[in-house]
Amino acid sequence: MNKKLRGRALVPALTLAAFIAFALASCSGPKPEIEQRIDELLARMTLEEKIGQMNQLSYDAGAELADDIEAGRVGSLLNIVDPAAINALQRVAVEESRLGIPLVVGRDVIHGFRTIFPIPIGQAATFNPDLVQQGAAIAAREARSVGVHWTFAPMLDISRDQRWGRLAEGFGEDPVLGAAMGSAMVRGYQGESLAGPASIAACVKHFVAYGAAEGGRDYNSTNVPPHLMRNVYLVPFKAAIDAGAATLMTSFNENDGIPGTGNKALVRDMLRDEWGWDGMVVSDWASVTEMIAHGFAADAKEAAMRAANAGVDMEMVSGSYLQFLPALIEEGKVPQDYVDNSVRNILRLKFRLGLFENPYVDTDAPSPLYAPEHLEAARETARQSAVLLKNDGVLPLEGAKTVAVVGPMADAPHDQLGTWIFDGRKEGTITPLNALRDLSGITVLHEPGVSYSRDRSTAGIAKAVAAARRADVVVAFVGEEAILSGEAHSLADPGLKGAQKELVAALAGTGKPLVVVVMAGRPLTIGDELAAADAMLYCFHPGTMGGPAIADLLFGTVSPSGRLPMTFAREVGQIPLYYNHNNTGRPFTGSETMIDDIPLEAAQTSLGNTSYYLDAGAEPLFPFGFGLSYTTFEYSELSLSSGEMASGGSLDVTFTLTNTGRREATEVAQFYIRDVSGSISRPVKELKDFRRVTLPAGGSARVTFTLTAEQLAFYGLDGTFGAEPGDFLLWVGPDSSSGLEASFTLR
Ligand code: NOJ
Repeated sequence: MNKKLRGRALVPALTLAAFIAFALASCSGPKPEIEQRIDELLARMTLEEKIGQMNQLSYDAGAELADDIEAGRVGSLLNIVDPAAINALQRVAVEESRLGIPLVVGRDVIHGFRTIFPIPIGQAATFNPDLVQQGAAIAAREARSVGVHWTFAPMLDISRDQRWGRLAEGFGEDPVLGAAMGSAMVRGYQGESLAGPASIAACVKHFVAYGAAEGGRDYNSTNVPPHLMRNVYLVPFKAAIDAGAATLMTSFNENDGIPGTGNKALVRDMLRDEWGWDGMVVSDWASVTEMIAHGFAADAKEAAMRAANAGVDMEMVSGSYLQFLPALIEEGKVPQDYVDNSVRNILRLKFRLGLFENPYVDTDAPSPLYAPEHLEAARETARQSAVLLKNDGVLPLEGAKTVAVVGPMADAPHDQLGTWIFDGRKEGTITPLNALRDLSGITVLHEPGVSYSRDRSTAGIAKAVAAARRADVVVAFVGEEAILSGEAHSLADPGLKGAQKELVAALAGTGKPLVVVVMAGRPLTIGDELAAADAMLYCFHPGTMGGPAIADLLFGTVSPSGRLPMTFAREVGQIPLYYNHNNTGRPFTGSETMIDDIPLEAAQTSLGNTSYYLDAGAEPLFPFGFGLSYTTFEYSELSLSSGEMASGGSLDVTFTLTNTGRREATEVAQFYIRDVSGSISRPVKELKDFRRVTLPAGGSARVTFTLTAEQLAFYGLDGTFGAEPGDFLLWVGPDSSSGLEASFTLR
């Protein structure tokens, strides 16, 4: 075994953007036009006007809003979506304030504006960045049409914990998938040019490690050490910034004692100085003054000092900059330069958005909200986001004439939209019940059984069972109401709530074919329901067009193609459980003695001493990347262009993918590697690439993934980013726990 004693092949961490910024700064040519305009404007601003730009208020901030805007005390508003009101306040900023600097209007447009797409964890399940980009572009078009310039998305927080309700808003546990989806979303929101009439600025959040909340309880402390931070949690942020993200939001959590909003090492030193990023940093909602509760600042003045010195350009709603920055500068506690640079970053955003040229929203333009092509795109995204977890042959329901539609999520137009839908409308939602009733040739018997997901009453179950007995097949729509996931909505036990477990068990007891459709904001622990069901389709919260999309899948108009963006634990006590973990010195083998097989009075050593739970093993219910379709795929003939890769080189990994079933379907081919040994332990598997491949029945294709040495690089013991020579394993396959295996050596 090569012990990698030959050092690291360094990959320059300088981004293209940083290189260009550096080149521009060091050459003697003229400054870009925007930078000149910023200089000119900044030179005319008073200190109060500068600090005013750093202040963001919420629209319901009170009657003095117009006065504050006129006096130059507000740089941005959030939570205002009435075009007339936006224009009226913008008019005050542009025509009545001394310098006429326009406001930038922010809003949480997280998975659609009016047309609601699947929640982001569902979008991640598509493994289709192009579709995610399209959805973000549609959200941008709708949002910009009412006067919104800036969304607080995408959320790039890696999450390895099913209890954390906010994972609904992110892309799951994998840094490479998160990077691909986050960058796609940024490109979608921002379009070709931020100044375009259908573009809005993206905001990557929450910087950083917010998803690593201890115990999955939102806002909780995190303890992500430096290597893990660089090699996992920061990866999607770096990618989205390289993709051009215009803004970034600091996080609520404190990591190793330092709140995100006061973390100078990460914001000023890394993001600015090391990555060379010239975008704008906003705090999270009152996260500046929340540093007092963290015990990181004695009072609001100290909190303002800590945030400004860390590099937070704009303060969301808590007002401490406005109140204390003048004195902090006077006292020399915050350098004037820091304030000037923050204002530059804010003005740069406004210039890039074209707000100085086009400050107003055109209220006469035709509305794009719910445009037919937007609804169609939402339907396609919902189709691709659904993951088929089990199918004993009952799906698709081609022969069914009478279908019993039961469960609290069958007709829950608000709840299927999911979390963060400020501007969605349940009136525009098509539920599965509506969609199934619209199909010709089938009779729908609807009995909810349980009226909402937390409903503990079992009174309705008998009626649902009676409907099931009269039907050819039962489709049970279970899961979570929207309110059970999202910000501040964590669960200690992420299983089905209320009387839903009893409902599923009673339906299974009828002996009728049982399809369980889950709509939820997170992976649920659904082992019992999986065992009871003949088929299970996991749809997350699928959005406005969830109903038609699910009907398409159930009846086989299209085959499911979603794949799990998170590991599903069997039991809550296994959490955190994720595929890309480091190994123990005593890995689980799968042949361990489980609790029921332990002999009485066994000697302690007789169980094998590996890393597992006596009562739950170490394997998940489903691995990351898992998902079935209505056909079967075979992987064969794996070949590598070489058994060796040169430092700085690449390798082609080619295999044959064959559709061995009887229907056209799409497979998500996945490519994983393992760095066998390194200067720090490396994960047992790491996703490096993936591809959606559609094949007709019996069709096959040769598929190639090209792996570069740069994809093998990581931050190692000496703190540099590089690949280390030595042996690697690789896999191509349908998920993170199976596939064809090969090896190669990096020289
Ligand atoms: C708090 C959330 O953490 C953040 O993600 C969101 O953008 C802001 N509130 C604004 O609503």
